[in-house]
Amino acid sequence: MADPFDFDEVIDRREVPALKVHRMVLGTDGMGLFPAGVADMDFRAPKPILDAMAQRLAHGVFGYETIPDGLMPALIAWMKQRHAWTIHPDHILRAPNVLNSLSMAANLFTRPGDGIIVQPPVFFDFADIIAENGRRMVENPLVLSSGRYEMNFDELATCAADPRTTMLFLCNPHNPVGRVWTKAELTQLGAICRQNGVVVVSDEIHADITFQNFPYTPFASISDADAQNSITCLSPAKSFNIAACCGAFTVVSDENRRNALKAENSRLTVNKNNAFASVAMEVAYKDGGPWLDAAIAYIEGNLSLVRARLSDIPEASLIEPEGTFLIWLDFRQLGLSPSELTEFLRCEAGWAITRGIAFGDSGAGFGRLNIACPRARLERALDRLVQAISKTRDTAQ
Ligand SMILES: Cc1ncc(COP(=O)(O)O)c(C=O)c1O
Repeated sequence: MADPFDFDEVIDRREVPALKVHRMVLGTDGMGLFPAGVADMDFRAPKPILDAMAQRLAHGVFGYETIPDGLMPALIAWMKQRHAWTIHPDHILRAPNVLNSLSMAANLFTRPGDGIIVQPPVFFDFADIIAENGRRMVENPLVLSSGRYEMNFDELATCAADPRTTMLFLCNPHNPVGRVWTKAELTQLGAICRQNGVVVVSDEIHADITFQNFPYTPFASISDADAQNSITCLSPAKSFNIAACCGAFTVVSDENRRNALKAENSRLTVNKNNAFASVAMEVAYKDGGPWLDAAIAYIEGNLSLVRARLSDIPEASLIEPEGTFLIWLDFRQLGLSPSELTEFLRCEAGWAITRGIAFGDSGAGFGRLNIACPRARLERALDRLVQAISKTRDTAQ
């Protein structure tokens, strides 16, 4: 029998239209590159999910379905057991995906032209959602201090004090810098937002993947007042590598906002249930724990490899992540512009990673590497990077 936790297995992502290896992402000339941009894993999903989906397929009838009775209890039990967060069943709404929830929240709970605070470098889709909804992005950049990103609370208070700034998109844990925000940090952020009438939309899609000593704190678990002033976006998509099943949840404690979201879901008819998403999500939360623990251990092993290989390469320095399978590399010592850096990584190292500049201006000179891949592949990629950097040193001499 195949090892249920065989993360070393190389699976050809090109057998399906996977975004990570698609020409849309790699470019027509990029097919041979190390594909480490898009934020999903190269691992097969947990066996209990595959078995349950196969069983659902064998049933053969795919007429309209409602939410399975076991789905919400499975999510609630997962959050309680793993993250000590008690969610009231009535506060959870099904959502098609996390970005849909962010977009709907922006549209429903801010007015056109309002400011929405983001903390760059941050997941680039936040900026797109804000622009596409005709809102204004208000930047509260993170501060890099002694190799660690911190929130700038003084500046946050100034941004939040503007009456036209009415929402904040929080990324908890933070993509791409890998911070798992502490309870103290979230408490301070929550207080500033409440004092200034700024609603927090907390994107917690990366919640389940955190490393030892860095527990994830659900923003809404901090206090009732913060729960009332927030909308939390959850999904098993990253944790179990089921993003293409398209399923998520929104936790909304405030009744008026919850009713508004429900009405909008109905108006846009985004309240349908995909049979496979339902099955995958329920089984993920019920039986996916052992697989997830093994996946996190494997990712930590990959992280150790990166740490070891780059320890004496100052031109590619690792910003230590506290969670997520995305790591933020500082290439500023190479002295290249963003487009030169992309060119160098593609042509000299064979790397297709996400450009740091995509996460905001403060990302210039950085790159985001996805390490949820078989170790041998990562090892080869690191070898090529180290060789490419050594070559630049030789040429400079
Ligand atoms: C922070 C963050 N939010 C949301 C998403 C996308 O979520 P979904 O596919 O559920 O819309 C991603 C995917 O990379 C992400 O990193």
